Amino acid sequence: MTASSLFDLTGAVALVTGASSGLGRRFARVLAENGARVVLVARRKERLDKLSAEIEAAGGQALPIAADVVNRDEIARAFDAAQARFGPVTVLVNNAGVATPQSFLGMREETWRQTLDINLDAVVATAQEAARRMVASGGGAIVNIASILSFGVQKGNLAYAVSKAAVLQATRAMALELAPKGVRVNAIAPGYFSTEINADYLASPQGEAMSRAVPMGRFGQEGELDGALLLLASRAGSFITGATIVVDGGHMLAIAGR
Ligand SMILES: NC(=O)c1ccc[n+]([C@@H]2O[C@H](COP(=O)([O-])OP(=O)(O)OC[C@H]3O[C@@H](n4cnc5c(N)ncnc54)[C@H](OP(=O)(O)O)[C@@H]3O)[C@@H](O)[C@H]2O)c1
Repeated sequence: MTASSLFDLTGAVALVTGASSGLGRRFARVLAENGARVVLVARRKERLDKLSAEIEAAGGQALPIAADVVNRDEIARAFDAAQARFGPVTVLVNNAGVATPQSFLGMREETWRQTLDINLDAVVATAQEAARRMVASGGGAIVNIASILSFGVQKGNLAYAVSKAAVLQATRAMALELAPKGVRVNAIAPGYFSTEINADYLASPQGEAMSRAVPMGRFGQEGELDGALLLLASRAGSFITGATIVVDGGHMLAIAGR
C-alpha cells in the first residue's frame, strides 16, 4: 500500500466548518487536494466563494454555504445542500471556533455564553447532525478541533479552555457510541498557529516569549496539521477512534521539561 493511496480521499465528501479563515481554510484545501469534494461552511460567504473558486481552479470540487454553526436549522440545511450536490457527507471537520480572552474576574456573561455556544454546543450539535446521516448512509469520520488548552490552562482564557476540554470528552463519548455504527470520531489538539484568532497576541512580546517556551522554539506553521487531518479523515485511520492527536511542537511537555 502506498502512502498516497492510503491517505487518498477520492469519493469522500468533507464538510468543514469555519472554512473562511485560518486552519479551516487550510483543512478544506488539503482535503480537496487529496480527492475529497469539500463543503465550505462559515458566516462570511464572500470568503467561502473565493476559497471555492481557488479550489475549483486547482481541479477540485467545492460548495460554499453560508451558515452560523449555532443555528441548527442552518446546519441541517448545509448538510442537505451538500448531499444534494455531492452525496452524503462522509467527513466532518468540526473546526469553527472563537476565543475572547478576558480575565476571570472581568469575564462577561455574553463571552462565556458565546464561547460555549460556538466551541461546544455547536460542535456537539453539528457532530450529531453528521453522525445521524453517516449512520444512515454507511459510515464516516468526524474530526473535532480541540486545543492544547483542552489539557492545560492559560490566564484569561477560562471559557475557551473549558469549551475545548469538553470537546475532548464529547469526542470520546461520541466515539464510544458510534464505533459499532461505522462512524469514527477523533480530535486534533493544535498548539499555537498564527491565525486571525490569535495573530495579535502571538506577535506581541508575551506571544514571542511564549514561542520561546515551546520546546521546538516556534509556533506551528501552515501545513503542519495536514498529516494529522489526513490520518484521521482517511482509511489510514480506519481503526482509530476516540483518539486525540496533539500537534504542538512539544508545548505541552514544557512544564515537565523546565
Ligand atoms: N490557531 C491556533 O493557534 C489554534 C490552536 C488550537 C485550536 N484552534 C482551533 O482551531 C479552530 C480554527 O481556529 P483558527 O485559528 O483558524 O481561527 P480563525 O482564523 O479565527 O477562524 C475561525 C473560523 O471559525 C468560524 N466561525 C466562528 N464562529 C462561527 C459561527 N458562529 N458559525 C460559523 N462559523 C464560525 C469563522 O468563520 P466566520 O467568522 O466567517 O463565520 C472562521 O472561519 C478553532 O476551533 C480554534 O479554537 C486554533
